[in-house]
Amino acid sequence: MPESSKSPFVVVANRLPVDRITTADGQTWRRSPGGLVTALHPVLQAEAGCWIGWAGGEGEAPAPFSLDNMQLSPVPLYADELRNYYEGFSNATLWPLYHDAVEQPAFHRHWWKSYEEVNRRFADRAAETAAPDGVVWVQDYQLQLVPAMLRKMRPDLRIGFFLHIPFPPAELFVQLPKRLDILRGLLGADVVGFQSPGAAQNFLRLTRQLLGLKPRGHLVEAEDGRQVRAEAYPISIDTVSVERVAGSPAVHSHAERLRKELGNPKTVILGVDRLDYTKGIEQRLKAFRELLADGEMSVPDTVMVQVATPSRERVEHYKALRRTVEREVGRINGDYGRLGVPAVHYLHQSYSREELAALYLIADVMAVTPFRDGMNLVAKEYVASRLSNDGALVLSEFAGAAADLKQAFQVNPHDLDALKSVLLTAAASPVEEQRRRIKSMRRYLRGHDVKHWARGFLTALGVPETATAYDSDNTPETST
Ligand code: ADP
Ligand code: F6P
Repeated sequence: MPESSKSPFVVVANRLPVDRITTADGQTWRRSPGGLVTALHPVLQAEAGCWIGWAGGEGEAPAPFSLDNMQLSPVPLYADELRNYYEGFSNATLWPLYHDAVEQPAFHRHWWKSYEEVNRRFADRAAETAAPDGVVWVQDYQLQLVPAMLRKMRPDLRIGFFLHIPFPPAELFVQLPKRLDILRGLLGADVVGFQSPGAAQNFLRLTRQLLGLKPRGHLVEAEDGRQVRAEAYPISIDTVSVERVAGSPAVHSHAERLRKELGNPKTVILGVDRLDYTKGIEQRLKAFRELLADGEMSVPDTVMVQVATPSRERVEHYKALRRTVEREVGRINGDYGRLGVPAVHYLHQSYSREELAALYLIADVMAVTPFRDGMNLVAKEYVASRLSNDGALVLSEFAGAAADLKQAFQVNPHDLDALKSVLLTAAASPVEEQRRRIKSMRRYLRGHDVKHWARGFLTALGVPETATAYDSDNTPETST
């Protein structure tokens, strides 16, 4: 690559912000799933940088292209890598292990080999793409080896790493057969960022326990003598942009239409999650079923809408979860629905930002009840969308967002009775109380938005502020 087309600011993430999909009309692009893309898109757009990532699908990658002021550099993943690196080591080993082992992590040696090979490919691409003395910001658990690989090739770079998911306590991490490689991979960065102070502490403690290093405060001297900073930078949303979408007349009329289609119920309970076993969807449905059975809630006064975005559909735990959730939805609707009035509206689909905003507007109660979640941006999007300050957020204590959204109705989702009771309390909460809570959380999100997150991390990495204002009203939906 000629020096002139190299980029001073590079993001490396498993996924690009858009996914290549094949429809009856040919190939098109769709916004990629997950909170990482929601958060990083406005940041990278403002920095006018290059985003390296997988474009979805298997086999050869499309040529580099530009989108919304960013250069996108697609990296290929081949069929065996999808099975071993992505579905295997990333999503059947690391994902469950890092989420408190809510499902049993599986370990296979050939998965690890593929994880290393794919991490090498991303590191090579970053080394080719970054301008001299540039900044490379590596994202998430799929790419934990990239910082050290990249540092070996390009010691001139400033390298950051941010983990979007929890980092587990030592008792769990030490189960990982390749635990030393992962720690050393991360220590290749100058700054390793986490969602919570507890996660950063877990990491620092492990550098002492497994590598014999001597962390002091937020710093630890790596084996090559560099100082590495490990600290919490809780991620957030583009609050102003979410407010703008929620305030648009088109979204309001869509919301009115939706409410009417639901039969104008008194209370709408909403869940919006990737269909993932960490999200506690089946427990939430069970709580709703028991509330209907106890006569504490009834259809059509109260209905539930559950959006379950398709995710990692070939991984066994995800297949099993889909069967469980769909069986439970069928059971609830069979027992408590009426002709034309289901108790649970279940939507296994992707939506645009506007459609999601309309759902947030009709949700009297938003139920965000993961067993474990790095942050959970859906909770923050709901709060920021409530421009009228009413509505009730039921939020798991085990979501990173619970540390930021302290005025939510917080709950331990493992405790089914507590979950039932908090859903009832939230649904019946007086509007003055709702306003007090939502207002205060909205104020918090205004000061702690994604710009604040990125600035905090990049300042620690020694990156000066760009002149560009962050304005991301055009998070990609579908583009070609
Ligand atoms: P995770 O990163 O684990 O998926 P988050 O709650 O942090 O969880 O982020 C999910 C992001 O994906 C949010 O920005 C949300 O708006 C978006 N999202 C969730 N469900 C859908 C859907 N069905 N269609 C489109 N976007 C979705
Ligand atoms: O941090 C959450 C995350 O795993 C991201 O890394 C990822 O992009 C998103 O959720 C969606 O998952 P996937 O890329 O496996 O569809």
